[in-house]
Order: sequence, then C-alpha cells, then structure tokens
Amino acid sequence: MQSRFRCIVCERHFPLGTRFRCDCGELLEVEHKFEKVDKGIFDDRLGIAPRPFNSGVWRFKELIHPHINESQIVSRPEGNTNLYKHQNLNDYTGITNISMKHEGENPTGSFKDRGMTVGISEALRLEASIVACASTGNTSASISAYASQAGLSCVVFIPEGEISYGKLAQALAYGAKVLQIRGNFDDAMRIVQKASDVLGLYLLNSINPWRIEGQKTIVFEILQQRQWNPPDWIVLPAGNLGNTSAFGKALRELKSLGIIKNVPRLAAIQAEGANPFYRLWNSKGNVLKDVKPDTVASAIKIGSPVSWRKALKVIQETQGLVEQVSDQEIMDAKAVIDRSGIGCEPASAASLAGTKKLVEQGVITPREDVVCILTGNLLKDPDSTVRYHMGDLNKVQPQYANRPEVIDADLSNVKEALNKRVLTKVII
Ligand code: F0G
Repeated sequence: MQSRFRCIVCERHFPLGTRFRCDCGELLEVEHKFEKVDKGIFDDRLGIAPRPFNSGVWRFKELIHPHINESQIVSRPEGNTNLYKHQNLNDYTGITNISMKHEGENPTGSFKDRGMTVGISEALRLEASIVACASTGNTSASISAYASQAGLSCVVFIPEGEISYGKLAQALAYGAKVLQIRGNFDDAMRIVQKASDVLGLYLLNSINPWRIEGQKTIVFEILQQRQWNPPDWIVLPAGNLGNTSAFGKALRELKSLGIIKNVPRLAAIQAEGANPFYRLWNSKGNVLKDVKPDTVASAIKIGSPVSWRKALKVIQETQGLVEQVSDQEIMDAKAVIDRSGIGCEPASAASLAGTKKLVEQGVITPREDVVCILTGNLLKDPDSTVRYHMGDLNKVQPQYANRPEVIDADLSNVKEALNKRVLTKVII
C-alpha cells in the first residue's frame, strides 16, 4: 500500500495531495504502511552512500517517503549534523551526560532544511509551480534556497521588521518574492493559508505533513549516532510546534518497528513571552488560547502555534512536559553555548536554559542522559548577540558579557588593556 494522509483526530483518510486539513478542521499526517525495516540498511549508508542516501534525511527514505522516485528528490544534502559535548554544559546544568545536536549545521543554517528537502521534492512530484510559507525567518531562508535549486517560484510571508537580518538576507539572496506583512507571524500564517487555498500556492509550513516527515530524521540521526541507544530526555525549543510533533511521530514509529524499546521523554521549551503551549500544558486544558507574543528569540515569537494538537499528543505519549524560560535565561544559556565554541541563535538556547531549569526543579536528575537540540546557527542573528554583549538588550542583564574595547593603536594601550582583563577563559 502507498502512504496516505490521515486526520490526527477523526482518523479519516485522504489521498496524498495538496489538502492538509480534514473536513473536521484538524491537521493531517502521513500514514505509512512500512515494510519490515532493518536498521542495518541505515547504518550501511553512513559515509559512503551515493546521492540521495548521503543526506541525513534521505538515508532514512524508507521511513519518510518510501515511494518517491529518486529523480524527484531535491537535496543539498542536509542533516549529518554533529552531537557536541563540553565541560561548560555539564557545569551549567549539573548534568554529567549532556550533548547538543547542532541543527545549525544544515545547508541554510537551521533544522528547516530537513523538512524542506522532503516538502520541495513532494512539490515537484505534484507538479506544483509556486511554493509558499509564512515564517519567523528560518523556514523562509530554507524554502527560498530549495525552491531555487528545484527551479520553482517561491513567495514568503514574513512579519515586517520582526525577522533577523541574516534570515531576511537569505530569502532575498536566494531569490524568493518576499512579502512583508504588517503584523506578526500569526497574521502572516493566517494570510498564507488563505492565499494558498485561493491562489493554488503549494504551502510549505509545517502543517504540510511532509515537513514533519523530514524533521523526524533529527531523532533518527540522534539515535543512530548513539548506536540506537535512546537518551532519557530530548529537550527542544518550541514555537509553531512542528518539530515537537515530528519528534513524537519519529519515536512512535521507531517503537512500533521494534528499532527502539525505550522512548525518551520530550521536553518542549517555550519563551515566557510566547508561551501558549506552556499555558495549555500547565492548565491541563485541552484547547489552546492564543497569546500576544514578545521575546528576543524571534524564531519562536509565535502566539498561535498551528500544530499544538499534534504536539500535545506527543508530550502525553512520551511522558514529556512543557516548560518556559525567560529572555534572560535564553540569552545567558546562549552565551554559555557560544563560549563553548559551539554557538547558536537565541531560540536554540531555550533547550539548554530549559534543561537547567528542569534540573533545578528536580525533574531531570544529574545522572540522566540528555540531548538538547540547537535549531539554528549563531550567524542567523548577530544583532541580538552583539547587543547582549554590549548590555543593550531589553530586560536582559548579561551574565557572560564579552564587551569589545576601543583603544588607540599603540603598544602601551594594548598592554594596559591586557592587564585590565584576563583573556576569555574556555571554561566559564
Ligand atoms: N528554533 C528555530 C531556530 C526556529 O526557527 C524555529 C521555528 C523553532 C525553533 C521552533 O520550531 O516551530 O517547529 O516549534 N521557526 C519557524 C520559521 C516558525 O518560520 O522559521 P517549531
């Protein structure tokens, strides 16, 4: 049987196509009927496989889009991102066994490329001509690059003045039509859905079930890098909740295929100023209430996440939880990641900040094995990094500031400057 779409609530089936919502209004997901899958096939492809199996997404083709023709696959290739450890991370959280999966190492600098390679390939398979998304920046950077590679036209809807320059630069440079919406991300998301329905644009936000299929491979790759031994926890930043949904689907499928026995607990971390999912979880309610978002972590500045129902199911299934962190906690955690030579954009650091908070609360114990996800590259948002170190960020008192100094060009000034301040230590 070919894969098909299924409603996540009423379980009605639909053929694969451009429709992403059921008649009942809920989101659809891809339902696969897997042949028996032996994980050895994924290990055999490591390092030596020809295109497209050299991609950290398409290496797992049998689990994401088993029937697509290889000639229709558009791949950079993506994935194959590293897991990092550093003493600073142990000291900061009190956890001995903590590592960071750096999704900022993807071709356009964020995890979005994993979903985009699958979404754009599906757009080609469906013979779509124009692809579209709303974005806080990273999705727009990714879609623009992949659309250009595939020869498709692309339009991105971004909140005016609210996305970082690095991301805006990428969308412009890769050649997308950029529509700056007067409003926030949630307004952009609403209008792109309407425009797609009426104008026949192929929508590539994470309500497109194929984006979720690609993003499952973050979890597949973490497990493969750990010889298929699951950690106790996976901690990730949460905005529109596509990634949280993808992680849960990946774990559900690996368990049902017998590839893993124990399912890690998922902790989804939101910014305090953009925390509708945290509020929902905390109130034990079952309907999400929108908030007016406000956070320095512009990538997750989202008040009305579209995939909340999928994500809620995932948190429940994995005995997981949702936590929130302040901008202060996000930026200090980012400084620790940056000073470890790893580096990330602000939203990514919510994972480390959230882990620290959960250890302080006694929810995660120092002996547990934790993988944090870094979702985007440091250079995506240099402005907030510089402003942190200059002490120039609203409501943030930098704990790890590394201020530049202005001096005259003579040796005595250099000596004086070096005497005043010990050069940056590696360990904080
Ligand atoms: N981290 C980064 C760097 C992101 O760009 C995003 C989402 C997230 C975390 C949250 O992931 O939405 O799946 O919960 N960025 C989207 C965008 C919304 O348009 O680039 P999520």
